Amino acid sequence: MLSYRHAFHAGNHADVLKHLVLIQLLRYLGQKEAPYMYIDTHSGAGVYALDTGYAAKSTEYLTGISRLWDRKDLPGPVAEYVGLVKAMNPDGKMRYYPGSPYCGEKVLRSQDRMRLFELHPSDSKLLEDNFRKLEAHAAANGQRSNVRGKRVMIQKGDGFAGLKALLPPPSRRGLVLIDPPYEVKEDYRRVKDTLSDALTRFATGTYAVWYPVLQRMESRELAGKLKRLPANGWLNVTLSISGPAPDGFGLHSSGMFVLNPPWTLEPMLREVMPYLVSALGTDAEAGFTLETGETVTTSGAPKRRT
Ligand SMILES: C[S@@+](CC[C@H](N)C(=O)[O-])C[C@H]1O[C@@H](n2cnc3c(N)ncnc32)[C@H](O)[C@@H]1O
Repeated sequence: MLSYRHAFHAGNHADVLKHLVLIQLLRYLGQKEAPYMYIDTHSGAGVYALDTGYAAKSTEYLTGISRLWDRKDLPGPVAEYVGLVKAMNPDGKMRYYPGSPYCGEKVLRSQDRMRLFELHPSDSKLLEDNFRKLEAHAAANGQRSNVRGKRVMIQKGDGFAGLKALLPPPSRRGLVLIDPPYEVKEDYRRVKDTLSDALTRFATGTYAVWYPVLQRMESRELAGKLKRLPANGWLNVTLSISGPAPDGFGLHSSGMFVLNPPWTLEPMLREVMPYLVSALGTDAEAGFTLETGETVTTSGAPKRRT
């Protein structure tokens, strides 16, 4: 099913959580000189206009980036994320919003590699076009001109299936972001099956999964299933900007589930999540949850720290 277009949701509260965590995970990998690979199985278009088209129609960014734009009290990791968005809007007006591939492009170093998958024909073409523009812009400014090619590869196709061939990355260091639309319940099953297979190929990789917190059973059960995968540990963070709407429509809460998270992620989120709740929350039911645990693969019940 290819009706989903991320432009409708660009910059909303769920994107804030996802891209903030993504940037920090990439930064952590960049602390060592050795190269790493960033794989984005569901890339979207890479860059979104907020003042025209779908995003201007839905105005979902008003629930997310817009609420952080003028704040002067941003904690460090939030400031870094907002700074990345502001850098693509040099005149100070909030006109463009970065997708996960663009966040990757800004954080990765010349030795790192990025592999992007997008299935939708329109969004994969936009992704290609956006990276071509980035390449031209970098070349015009005398910066590196190899934005695409060896460093960045874009594939129009199924990211769940395409991931297999990339694991393990040659450097044995990497982050995989899995961010499907979840418009079909099949996506929930494929997330779990894909991770299960990926861990057999690249057990030490870091895997980040975005998911919507919804009433549907598949959504409620996803985190529980991922906790049982044989990784070295997991972190699960959710952000709710309000209670559910009376009609049940709209996304009020989402989560990031990370397998093999860096040790720095939990303390960073403990500092930042209360801030996000106060900045993005719209009613008394706004809040966050943060839990971590270790998966025990031999015997006994999984250990859990909350
Ligand atoms: C939530 S959006 C991605 C947003 C992007 N990761 C970001 O943060 O900017 C999900 C994207 O996955 C694409 N998609 C859906 N099924 C896919 C599949 N099996 N493989 C690759 N892309 C897929 C959709 O067309 C959509 O653009």
